[in-house]
Amino acid sequence: MDVYDAVDSRRAVRAFSDKPVPREVLERVLTAATRAPSSGNLQPWHVYVVTGEPLAELKERATARALAGDPGDEREYPMYPAVLASPYRDRFSAAAAQRYEALGIERDAQDRPRRIAALNSEAFGAPVVLFCYLDRRMGPGQWADAGMYLQTVMLLLRAEGLHSCPQVMWTMYRETVSEAVGADDGLVLLCGVSLGFEKEGVPPLRTGRAEMKETVTFLGI
Ligand SMILES: Cc1cc2nc3c(=O)[nH]c(=O)nc-3n(C[C@H](O)[C@H](O)[C@H](O)COP(=O)(O)O)c2cc1C
Repeated sequence: MDVYDAVDSRRAVRAFSDKPVPREVLERVLTAATRAPSSGNLQPWHVYVVTGEPLAELKERATARALAGDPGDEREYPMYPAVLASPYRDRFSAAAAQRYEALGIERDAQDRPRRIAALNSEAFGAPVVLFCYLDRRMGPGQWADAGMYLQTVMLLLRAEGLHSCPQVMWTMYRETVSEAVGADDGLVLLCGVSLGFEKEGVPPLRTGRAEMKETVTFLGI
């Protein structure tokens, strides 16, 4: 698959089929992704690949927490800045409106947060979730490295005909996740990435973007 096609066709998929993903495919993708760049070549990420029975148990525990209205564990990093000014707030609201309409969750539904948390904790039906951790001594530069690594993984998944959904939501239930994967206190959970084959018959959601010129400045050309 052409790189442009991989970038263009990657989107956060929120409806997966239960078709299993062969281990050799996961190994091929994660082996190729080791070529992702990192400042000083630290390669600061640590990934747990969870599927099968351990994932079923984790989904069950996280979904029970979500449905009980559990506000989650103390966050180790804020999902967003405390004050989200324009244009970020507008982009956030527009994407959220598109997302929840696609998921059939009405804007003013009282149980909206619970339903969103529950869908997320079921990993949208994905048969595999990668949990990406960082050594907690790492700084902002290494967090950026981990982001580049995860995008590399998500693009490689496209080359295998697979889709993904990065999910910061897992940090809400980070203690349940860490217990399930056996991550120690020296590691901090950046996010999960649900992955698998897309469920058939679900209309694809193409989330809007700011025009390139809104976020890029050319100098000298
Ligand atoms: C680090 C990160 C965390 C995210 N967390 C969630 C999440 O918890 N739940 C969710 O449904 N989508 C999540 N997303 C997906 C974004 O909502 C999505 O990437 C964005 O709206 C753009 O849409 P697109 O990826 O489909 O183009 C996350 C994306 C990133 C990069």
